Amino acid sequence: MSLGRVPCILVINGPNLNILSIREPSFYGFKTLEQIIDILINQVKKIGIQLQHFQSNCECKLIETIHSAIDRIDFIIINPAAFAHTSIALRDALIGVHIPFIEVHLSNVYSRESFRHSSYLSDKAEGIICGFGAMGYELALSAAVAYLKNQNN
Ligand code: DQA
Repeated sequence: MSLGRVPCILVINGPNLNILSIREPSFYGFKTLEQIIDILINQVKKIGIQLQHFQSNCECKLIETIHSAIDRIDFIIINPAAFAHTSIALRDALIGVHIPFIEVHLSNVYSRESFRHSSYLSDKAEGIICGFGAMGYELALSAAVAYLKNQNN
């Protein structure tokens, strides 16, 4: 990779994902968000890619974090949680910063209530991963690393 700096992937998690492990584990599993992020940090440790993480229950803070990614972040992995189904503002922020992103959902949103079947982000994402629980983040990270390698070779 030849970016002139260490490539950096930003993982963003939206509302209620800070209470993973307690929250509806039949949908979201028993791992805490901290455990999931530790796994991701280990995944990139040896390959010279930096990983940052941000979680908020607040739409405004998520948008401001996306804005602050300009010129710093090369790829975003985002679980927008319920904001996937409601937030045009989050969609506009992601479009506005021109940073490629993957949308992740722990649960298979298509096997759940119909209001979870649509996302304001999906058509702008490089890809979507849902239904694989915490492993979905690892899959997304592998795909993001491959994307960056491909782009910079
Ligand atoms: C979720 C799915 C959303 O519908 C829900 O509102 C969440 C979590 C998931 O990871 O499966 O908060 O994004």
